[in-house]
Amino acid sequence: MHQQTIRNAEEKVQRFFANDATGHDWYHTDRVRKVAIEIANHEGADASICELAALLHDVADEKFHESKENGEKYVREWLMTCGDREVNVEKVMNIITKLSFRGGGGQAPSCLEGKIVQDADRLDAIGAIGIARCFMFAGAKGDAMYDPSISPREHMTATSYRQEKSSAINHFYEKLLKLKNRMNTKTGEEIAKTRHQRLETFLDAFFQEWSGK
Ligand code: ADP
Ligand code: NI
Repeated sequence: MHQQTIRNAEEKVQRFFANDATGHDWYHTDRVRKVAIEIANHEGADASICELAALLHDVADEKFHESKENGEKYVREWLMTCGDREVNVEKVMNIITKLSFRGGGGQAPSCLEGKIVQDADRLDAIGAIGIARCFMFAGAKGDAMYDPSISPREHMTATSYRQEKSSAINHFYEKLLKLKNRMNTKTGEEIAKTRHQRLETFLDAFFQEWSGK
């Protein structure tokens, strides 16, 4: 793959997320790219496919387009115009479209490179950065950082489950604490262990201070 393709993708993503406040900024993309390369090198995968897919992974997200199809079309067309014949466009598209937690019908991407980018994306939702992103997201959504009247959904009754209110802390129980068991690769699992521990340490401290200790 040509180095210029990677440079073009970097520029594309930087422009795309220039004014984003949903936690999908350029720096998120850049972190996912770095971790994806790191995992790829450990797992013996194609690091340049991981890098390109990581760079483009959020650009196709339906949140930023009129529909899921439009998002995919947007990225596919961009890849075609790059004119890099060494890039397997379908492979990159296949990775990107299967990525999100909800999307992809709950399936992990089928190729190793896709599994790696998915691990890297999920790793950015845990650890110190994951904690920061969670509070940013909750704040932007107007949710409380913590609301004791909202218990973690896992422990909720059917009626309370329907309530729409959430909180940053609640999101830990809904999603963040589950991610370490959803890693696709051994290397991803190793990194997740350390980052998961940071979530646990943070929650311990948070609840101690909440109760005045
Ligand atoms: P992605 O597009 O990376 O799969 P999301 O768009 O679901 O993930 O989330 C982006 C970031 O915002 C993540 O760090 C995620 O944990 C956080 N986030 C998503 N939903 C919530 C929520 N309801 N409350 C707090 N943080 C959230
Ligand atoms: Ni992402």
